[in-house]
Amino acid sequence: HTIFLKDYAETPYSVVSVDMDFKIEEASTRVRTQITFEPRPTTEPGTPLVLDGDGLTLSSIAVDGYPVMLADYAANETGLTLAEPPHRRFVLETEVHLKPEDNKKLMGLYRSGGTWCTQCEPEGFRRITYYLDRPDILAPFKVRITAPREVAPVLLSNGNLIDKGDAGDGLHYALWEDPSPKPAYLFALVAGDLGSITDSFTTMGGRKVDLAIYCTHGKQAECAYAMDSLKRSMAWDEKRFGREYDLDVFNIVAVSDFNFGAMENKGLNIFNDKLVFALPETASDANYANIERVIAHEYFHNWTGNRITCRDWFQLCLKEGLTVYRDQEFSSDERSRPVQRIHDVENLRITQFPEDGGPLAHPPRPDHYREINNFYTTTVYQKGSEVVRMLATLLGEAGFRKGMDLYFERHDGEATTIEAFLKVFEDAAGIDLSQFGQWYTQAGTPQVTASDSYDAASQTYTLTLAQNTLPTPNQPEKPPFVIPVKFGLLGPNGSPMGWASVRGGTVQDDLIVLDSESVTLTFEGVANKPVPSLFRGFSAPIKLSTSLSQQDLLFLARHDSDPFNRWDALQTVATGLMARSATGVSLDAGDVDALREAIMDTLANPDLDDAFKALVISMPDETVIARQIGKDVDPGAVAVARRNLIRTLVEPVSERLEAYYGRLADTAPYSPDARQAGRRSLRNGLLSLLTAGSSRGAALAEAQYKDASNMTDRYAALAISVHNWTAAAPALLGDFRTRFAGDPLVFDKWLMASSQAPDDGVIERMSAVLAAPDFPRTNPNRLRSLLGGFVMANPAQFAREDGLGFRFVTEAAAEIDQVNPQVAARILTGFRILPLLEAKRRASGQAALESLRSQHQLSRNTGDIVDRILAG
Ligand code: ARG
Ligand code: ZN
Repeated sequence: HTIFLKDYAETPYSVVSVDMDFKIEEASTRVRTQITFEPRPTTEPGTPLVLDGDGLTLSSIAVDGYPVMLADYAANETGLTLAEPPHRRFVLETEVHLKPEDNKKLMGLYRSGGTWCTQCEPEGFRRITYYLDRPDILAPFKVRITAPREVAPVLLSNGNLIDKGDAGDGLHYALWEDPSPKPAYLFALVAGDLGSITDSFTTMGGRKVDLAIYCTHGKQAECAYAMDSLKRSMAWDEKRFGREYDLDVFNIVAVSDFNFGAMENKGLNIFNDKLVFALPETASDANYANIERVIAHEYFHNWTGNRITCRDWFQLCLKEGLTVYRDQEFSSDERSRPVQRIHDVENLRITQFPEDGGPLAHPPRPDHYREINNFYTTTVYQKGSEVVRMLATLLGEAGFRKGMDLYFERHDGEATTIEAFLKVFEDAAGIDLSQFGQWYTQAGTPQVTASDSYDAASQTYTLTLAQNTLPTPNQPEKPPFVIPVKFGLLGPNGSPMGWASVRGGTVQDDLIVLDSESVTLTFEGVANKPVPSLFRGFSAPIKLSTSLSQQDLLFLARHDSDPFNRWDALQTVATGLMARSATGVSLDAGDVDALREAIMDTLANPDLDDAFKALVISMPDETVIARQIGKDVDPGAVAVARRNLIRTLVEPVSERLEAYYGRLADTAPYSPDARQAGRRSLRNGLLSLLTAGSSRGAALAEAQYKDASNMTDRYAALAISVHNWTAAAPALLGDFRTRFAGDPLVFDKWLMASSQAPDDGVIERMSAVLAAPDFPRTNPNRLRSLLGGFVMANPAQFAREDGLGFRFVTEAAAEIDQVNPQVAARILTGFRILPLLEAKRRASGQAALESLRSQHQLSRNTGDIVDRILAG
């Protein structure tokens, strides 16, 4: 059953208000809901009211206080229908009983570590009560929670606490009121025995907001960084976007069983605890940065998502793409802008490009789906953010802000669409964005080809840019995109080159807008042959191919004023060499020498910061190399080519690298700040090169592992040892596991590291871990760490020729699917690499999926992913 965007229609009834009454007991939870409905002005009398419900059993039903007769309603697996509701405002009261303890899908009301909690986005509220469970139904909520005081001293819901007290028999209650009308997917409830830390924030308008983070008792000290991040997020949104918080309280709860990162429920964010807890001994610098980012992301949703929400789930990237853009900007302002940009683009290339170029490709705003949970994708989130970023580039900072201000002013309190979002920028800037809007509706990564020539006699430089986008599922034809190209021309000594005039198209300052199949620009009055620096700051999510020589690229790597392109030029060279070597071309020693020299120059450059240098020396990911090859890939050969090139690069300079590594050791006590973290990442980048490329590296890694005083250094040493499968790797894995036994989040790191081993024993070891009777098989973090890490980041073993890797994953997924379909479906998206592989591997991957499909009754989530990959 497929749902189409074009079929969108309003419900015949609207919701005026919702009153809920939860009675929580150990064995079950009773939910009584009173919903005030009203027919819309156009609704004919006698139009049935159809409510969503998922796995609910109705115990009683009444309209305006009178029980409804059996003949007048129908309740089944997917909902509740009232045949002939009153043709006026009326109150429907229903009662259901839930078993949160048995809810392992982790959608709706469930229990995590004894705490009752909820997840409703996108369609979890219908697992709590019968409702119009769609984002365009907005209503104020009042929620009463009654629970045993002993097991659940903390009772939370959205909005403000308006009453609480004793309810006799060892029970107590709390009454929460959320005055701002909201869609049901933002509903939340938490009840449990939790510790907390508190703080406060005074908004620019003078409102004092009480802040609290709730967690398992004893974990309070681990929440400090999250609280600090929250306060900085609140201040940043005021300063950068003029957005102020609107309630008296803001609560965050950390839980251990959670299907994804976190959830922006109004006034009550619920987090996967891995995105809250951090101590230097157990969390890495990357964990700290992620916590800061996700705390900000969920907080920013209060405006982009909650106060202005989505009309339907096709519009998901209206809130997600925009909010990712906002969190990326926040991280850029709080840390290093170029470093943040490089990280974000790396992530896009490693995760989104493969999605966009494979069987699961879809536009940031899809127009149909079978299972909406399968569309919380990197395309909706990360590419969605890139689209917003391009808008900001085209409009300039002031123009973009003007549009955003208008968006907040015009649409506050609404459930709206991508079209309405684009319209505010059209109105604010007086431009036409209809062609630009194709970024939201067309899938696929455009390929841009640049070619140029220089005529010394006439001092003219000619640059041709052409775009082409390959077909994606259901979209054979791709009209041209509007592509902003930020650029500069570099003169012979690296300084910027000017020009007198341009013919053939418009160039505004440093921006070319490519909006047709191709454009040829003629720059006049160019004194020398320039080297073009194109797509500065990665100004559009495209793949660029140029005719630049390796020498030109390394010139950019040394001289470009744009840090992103400096990094990118060097990566392009390294990726090209590895791709060539993986396909059997033997490399020219001079090319490798030149790359090494550029790397060494970068390392020696006193004007560049450590975090940037660390990115420059981090060698391209195997999936990036595989994409560069494009077809008939043997991932084993890619891994070998990568390792060989690193060895050739490192060998002649290993002593210098080792000395540098030694000098970078921490002297100050640990702090997660960007500067110190940058230093550690450079040092660990050097360790990675040394371990892969020199005989002394393995011992250095082992020593660092043993001496480490923080998780960043210890985990880096472990991961590097495992990835290179050094002689010490098995023992280090063993030590890590026992050293941190009992800490589930560190266990995840162990699982992740274990899944990255390149040796042929890795699958057997993982199978044993998974089969152990005490493996927490219903916890998404554990499953994702072991299996997600394997399918996404160990292609050589996942895509083994004998099919063992594929079968290991499909067999595990079949079991997980019985318990938690979302987790199973997500893991299986790793099979999207199949079209890239050489025939034998591709066939064995397809066979594994075919047998999964034919031998199991798959959930809608998993069935959808498997079908799309096999059809692709
Ligand atoms: N809205 C949440 C966030 O981005 C994530 C919800 C994910 N839901 C899902 N079904 N995958 O912050
Ligand atoms: Zn989000």
